[in-house]
Amino acid sequence: MKIGFIGVGKMASAIIAGLKQTNFELIISDSSLQKSKEKADTLHVNFAQSHQDLIEKADLIILGLKPQILPSVLNNLNITKPLLSMAAGVSLADLAQLSKADLPIIRIMPNLNAQLLQSSTAICRNKNVTEALFKTAKQITDAFGTTFEIAEKDFHTFTALAGSSPAYIALFIEALTKAGVKHGFSKELSFDIVSQTILATTTYLAQGQDKPNDLIDKVSSPGGTTISGLLELEKTGFTASVISAIDATIDKSEKM
Ligand SMILES: NC(=O)c1ccc[n+]([C@@H]2O[C@H](COP(=O)([O-])OP(=O)(O)OC[C@H]3O[C@@H](n4cnc5c(N)ncnc54)[C@H](OP(=O)(O)O)[C@@H]3O)[C@@H](O)[C@H]2O)c1
Repeated sequence: MKIGFIGVGKMASAIIAGLKQTNFELIISDSSLQKSKEKADTLHVNFAQSHQDLIEKADLIILGLKPQILPSVLNNLNITKPLLSMAAGVSLADLAQLSKADLPIIRIMPNLNAQLLQSSTAICRNKNVTEALFKTAKQITDAFGTTFEIAEKDFHTFTALAGSSPAYIALFIEALTKAGVKHGFSKELSFDIVSQTILATTTYLAQGQDKPNDLIDKVSSPGGTTISGLLELEKTGFTASVISAIDATIDKSEKM
């Protein structure tokens, strides 16, 4: 199968890096023929002479364009192949309208970790997508991380939990790092201690033997230090604060 990319920026390049490890044939078309040539050279893929040429040559078209560019690009094309879009906030219904055809359309929401081939990616489809095409789409998303098939109505929640949460997790890491600095560690040392601890903790939890609450109970010795810190976190509303942040993210995403 030949996969064509229209728009090859940060996210499409990360996806292409994952797909290079598969047997899919890849072809790209970026903002100009010159840019297509340059990026094809860097990414070691083929390039098309134009978007329309790419549509003719590819079996599936992946749109790597910014949401605000999508309407003007799609408006000038005769799209005859299945589409896969990663554009934030652009629904399957929007894509059907913009493509002016009753096509199979797949919508995905990757996250920044695609750069490490560890994206958490949501996927959904419209009624025209066959099981075989959807299986292929999931092979594509699995090539740059882990795929979560969810209803389109839940994309806002997914965006909060997977798209925005790296920033919230980074804020927590920064806060722990600052606590180390407050108590006399250099920022570098404090960050190294915190980031290594977070990496090992998530690796352990991902192995699935213990749920987060089991781990919390294991670390909290009776009368010990951890239970004192945990209660302090909850006194200042840690769980409620995190959930309110996710509520605000979903609310904003729904209004955009
Ligand atoms: N980045 C993320 O973390 C992330 C996460 C989830 C979803 N997404 C979605 O992924 C999509 C791409 O985001 P991105 O971060 O990869 O953006 P990006 O780096 O700005 O990439 C967009 C690409 O589209 C190209 N382009 C502009 N006009 C074009 C045209 N008329 N025809 C063909 N290509 C054109 C740009 O080329 P020029 O540079 O020459 O303009 C650029 O290579 C967006 O829809 C975004 O919502 C991104």
